[in-house]
Amino acid sequence: MSSSSIAVAGGSGGLGGFIVDALVATGNFQVKVLTRGAAPAEPKREVEYAQVNYADHDQLVDALRGVKIVVSALNAFAVGFEQQALIAAAADAKVERFVPSEFGLPPQHGKDYGFYAGKIRAQKAIQSAGLEYVLYGVGSFTDYAFYPPFGFDFDNDAVDAPGDGDAPISWTWREDVGRFVAETVALPESRNVTLGVEGDVKSVREVAEIVGRKKGVKMTITHTPLEDLAEAAKTSDNGFVVFASELRTAFAKGDMRVPSPTKPRTFKPKTVEDWVQQNI
Ligand SMILES: NC(=O)c1ccc[n+]([C@@H]2O[C@H](COP(=O)([O-])OP(=O)(O)OC[C@H]3O[C@@H](n4cnc5c(N)ncnc54)[C@H](OP(=O)(O)O)[C@@H]3O)[C@@H](O)[C@H]2O)c1
Repeated sequence: MSSSSIAVAGGSGGLGGFIVDALVATGNFQVKVLTRGAAPAEPKREVEYAQVNYADHDQLVDALRGVKIVVSALNAFAVGFEQQALIAAAADAKVERFVPSEFGLPPQHGKDYGFYAGKIRAQKAIQSAGLEYVLYGVGSFTDYAFYPPFGFDFDNDAVDAPGDGDAPISWTWREDVGRFVAETVALPESRNVTLGVEGDVKSVREVAEIVGRKKGVKMTITHTPLEDLAEAAKTSDNGFVVFASELRTAFAKGDMRVPSPTKPRTFKPKTVEDWVQQNI
């Protein structure tokens, strides 16, 4: 694919903003952000904004006419309705390639996790619609995951490591996810493949050690047994607790490690150490 028109759904969001910036920076794409709201008061330069209602199929198709690639950076809660509507509209608008909102657990490990079920439905819908796809597995966002509900309580020099805490985890900054998408999304060889990128590989214990070194303290490391996480995932009526329990299970089992990551060509990804140096 040469210079392409590309639409980013959720392009004003947490990850989507980084993807939009990286696409614009290549100079190779005409970038359109799909948003339920109005264009921001200070729109990004060289970006077109289209206000969409995901319940209005015809309007979505209109917004996607002439677009070659759709990247969905929609919120995980939006994969059930909004993203399915986007896939149907993309097919009717003759979009060539659809990138669903993945960007976390490597798709190869998805079937074992309830929180991933909507992403599997999206993959099936894309293939049924005859669209090309690219699936991105990136592990855990380095600039997102280090906070207490996921076991990282750096303010109190404490980390709770699920299981033994030694399983390798892929960590990738959102900025680098955006850059990796920008350098790969339109390549002919990216057609119908799963691509992985990782900025760093560190176990929970190694993350604790890096933070402890920076703070000059001995971190307290506790261990939640996997059975407790499984029980919480099964019995809690709090959706976030279920999600966090499953995510931490993926940490413990090594399922957040990206299999066979691709080395970026155009940038050097940032590491966990970089995050600690900037934030602790
Ligand atoms: N690997 C990781 O550690 C990690 C961490 C967080 C997220 N993720 C993944 O990254 C992807 C993007 O997540 P994110 O956290 O960047 O998303 P986000 O910022 O929370 O949301 C992205 C955009 O989705 C749009 N949206 C459309 N329908 C929505 C709805 N019903 N509810 C909420 N938002 C809706 C909103 O855009 P408008 O309001 O402009 O329409 C919003 O700005 C997801 O697939 C998520 O699972 C991965």
